[in-house]
This record gives sequence, C-alpha cells and structure tokens, in this order.
Amino acid sequence: MKRRTFIQAGTAVSGASYLGFPLIKSKQDQKFRLVIIGCGWWGTNILREAVKSGRVEVVGICDVDQRQLQTITDEINGWNGSKPKWYTDYRECISETNPEIAIVATPDHWHALPMIEAVNAGAHVYVEKPISHTILEGRAMFNAARQNDRVVQVGTHRRTSPHNISAQEFLHSGKVGKISMVKCFVNYGGNAGEPTPDAEVPEGLDWDMWLGPAPYRDYNPRIHPRGFRSFLDYANGTISDWGIHWFDQVLWWSEQQVPSRVFSTGGRFVKEDHTDVPDTQLATFEFEDFSLYWEHKLAAKNAYEDPSVGCYFYGTNGTLHVGWRDGWTFFPSTKGGEKVHVEPTLHQPDDQNIRELWADFMKSIDEGSRPTCDIEKGYLATNLSLLAMISLKAGRSLEWDGTTILNDKEAQAMMKRTYRDPWDYPDYA
Ligand SMILES: NC(=O)c1ccc[n+]([C@@H]2O[C@H](COP(=O)([O-])OP(=O)(O)OC[C@H]3O[C@@H](n4cnc5c(N)ncnc54)[C@H](O)[C@@H]3O)[C@@H](O)[C@H]2O)c1
Repeated sequence: MKRRTFIQAGTAVSGASYLGFPLIKSKQDQKFRLVIIGCGWWGTNILREAVKSGRVEVVGICDVDQRQLQTITDEINGWNGSKPKWYTDYRECISETNPEIAIVATPDHWHALPMIEAVNAGAHVYVEKPISHTILEGRAMFNAARQNDRVVQVGTHRRTSPHNISAQEFLHSGKVGKISMVKCFVNYGGNAGEPTPDAEVPEGLDWDMWLGPAPYRDYNPRIHPRGFRSFLDYANGTISDWGIHWFDQVLWWSEQQVPSRVFSTGGRFVKEDHTDVPDTQLATFEFEDFSLYWEHKLAAKNAYEDPSVGCYFYGTNGTLHVGWRDGWTFFPSTKGGEKVHVEPTLHQPDDQNIRELWADFMKSIDEGSRPTCDIEKGYLATNLSLLAMISLKAGRSLEWDGTTILNDKEAQAMMKRTYRDPWDYPDYA
C-alpha cells in the first residue's frame, strides 16, 4: 500500500464522488454571479476565460490597487460591456455582492483568508497556486472547502493541458518502463541584479491592505505588481511559484503519494538585488518507490542547456521530458529506439490552458463533482514546495507523515506563521 494522503477534515465528505450542495443552476443558460479578488496579471487571464465561457455575470471586482481596478474594468468593458462594482476590501465585496463564484488571484500570502471567506459565504472558488504561504493555511482552506461542500478549483491548469494529459497516458501505458527517479527543474540565465530603492506609495494603492497579514515594510516598486514572488514574506521562491506545477505532474503520475523525508539546500550565491528568495536550490523527496529531486538556478543557465523547465521521468525504457512550450518528448534508453514527441496546445496570452480548467470548474459546479484540480491536490503539491522551504530554512531533513513534521519541533512551528494585526491566522483544526 503506497503512502497516500487522504486528509482527515472534521466534517469532510470523505471519499465522496459528489458534493452535497443542491444543483440549483445546472442549466447552461443560467449565469453565476461572480467576483474576482486580485485583478493583476493572472487574475485578468482567468477572468477573460470566465467571461468568454458565457456562464458568469461579473458583479464585483476587488483589488487593493485602484489602478488595477481601472485596467481590468477597461478590459472587461471590451469583452462584454458589463460594469461590475469596485471594491478594495474583499470582505465587503463578498458580503455586498453575495457571489456564487469567486476567483482568488491575489499574491500567495493573501490566498487563504479571501478563499475561506468566500466558501463560508457559499461561493465556489477558483484559487491560484500555490494555494497558500504556509502549510496550515492550506489545511484550513481544505477544511473550509469540505465543510461548506464547495467546489474549489486550484489554478494548476497543466492538469487540463492536452500535452500533459497525453504525457500521463504515456507514463501510465508502461512505455517508459519502471520509473525510479523524477527531476523537476527551472533554470534561467541572468546576473546579480541591483537593489531597487523604496518609494512613495503610488496613488490609489492601499499598501497596508496589500501587506495584510505579512510583516510591515515600506513600499517598494519591485514588490508590487507581480514582484511579490521574489520575496519570502509574500511567497516561497521559485520552488513554490514554478515548482508546484511540476510537483503536481509528479503527484498526478504517482496517484497522490506523499514523501516520507524531505531535504533542501541552496541559497543566494549570485543575486545582489534586494529580493530574498534563493537563486539556487536543490531539494530531494523520498517516496516509497521512487526519488524526486528539484533544482533551480536563477542566474546560471547556459545557452545550450535546454529545456529550461519541466520534469524528467527516468524509467528503465527511457526518459520522458514533460515540458511547457516544448510539449513532451520520450528519449528511448537504446540508441535505435524510437523517440516520441508531442507538441502542446496552448492559449494566448502567456501560453496557458485556463480555458480548459475553467470549463472543468463549471462542469463540477453543474454536476456537484470534484474538479480536476481539487483543493486536496493543490494542497499536496503546495506542501512539497513548502516542506522544501522549511527544510532549507531549518538546515535539516524533515520526516513527514502527510500531516505533520515528525522529527523537528522548530521546523514544525514553521508550518504556520504569526499574522500581523488585525488579521487572525485561519482555523486549521
Ligand atoms: N497558474 C498559473 O500558471 C499562474 C501564473 C501566474 C500567476 N499565478 C498566481 O496568480 C497569483 C497572482 O499573481 P500575479 O502575477 O497575477 O500578481 P499581480 O501582482 O499581477 O496581481 C495580484 C493582484 O492582487 C492584488 N491584491 C493584493 N492584495 C490584495 C487583497 N487583499 N485584496 C484584493 N487584491 C489584492 C494586487 O494589488 C495585484 O493587483 C499568484 O498566486 C500567482 O502565483 C498563477
């Protein structure tokens, strides 16, 4: 029996293939009242597909930066002419609009509270990856989803990408042979960079609300918009931003196994800008019948090192590279063997498959079924990144039983963090 996690939540509908909510709006012609919380780069990409699906009425848009609200309003107006109400506080947005669907596309440190608020108010949620900034936030999100019987889709759209689906079919067909090792990686070229000075808070940005539960620091244009991913107070570095996508592919193939031991090392050996995420990181994960490792270099890729991102599944019959813009390729172990290649089918902008993931989300809401990227899968993939980051900070390897860190009280304490007033850490019990 392989170690898999079936999370025990207080009132979870465990193992159910359906959810308990009444299917009031299962007809394709009925529109769901939708709000979006976090209207930046990726939120706009999601909202575009949501509107295109013809299944939603955008009743509220929420962002702590009014410049983002203006930009997304101009976009939506071009899509279908609707004029949703503006909000800068997600609590007001949810309580006033009473949404049936909420998109949460805030920076990572701001996923848990709005997602939980939305499901508690009865909305189904599409929440971005990594689901949380700390492990116990993710646990609280999972519990809230199950306790409210809501569909919660995580934005790991690669589970609905045609080439990722066919790669999984290839893996499961046995053509790669017995797989003993998987490597996930992201490599970029670059240089040391330079610090960006702090600046006045731009007009229209509520910086205190942007920081929310994270520690206070003065505004810096390198952080917002989009730069939060390079700062540990708001995100968990490349292994979390990018790694979760590839770890999710590994969990898909291994049918959601959990590792028993995690170790990570790395640091900032090159970067001299004032970001603080590791520019170099290695992590190893011990699974029952295979080893997984992660590698990223943010400034040391050479021009001939290709591909830059993805995962390699190493099997007795050859190696399968699952990538992004380069699709997937199987390299046989014998010289005369047949190389197999499949091109991707991606949408613009940004080469993604949000359209398929949104359609899957709507289908789950219509049918009352679990979505393809259900919160439990997002939780397990996010945990691999977060455990590696805890190991890196603690400088020790961690024993993990799928629920807690067993061997290290100091590391265990890093499964949560202290929130800045007035925000309360979500209830994860
Ligand atoms: N699935 C994918 O492939 C993918 C790709 C890119 C980004 N993402 C994820 O999407 C999320 C957003 O990333 P981004 O690159 O769009 O960042 P971004 O900075 O462009 O957008 C985030 C927005 O959230 C707003 N915000 C911050 N705090 C808020 C709050 N309390 N309430 C409402 N709005 C708030 C910010 O002002 C900003 O406009 C991240 O979690 C990221 O990891 C996922």
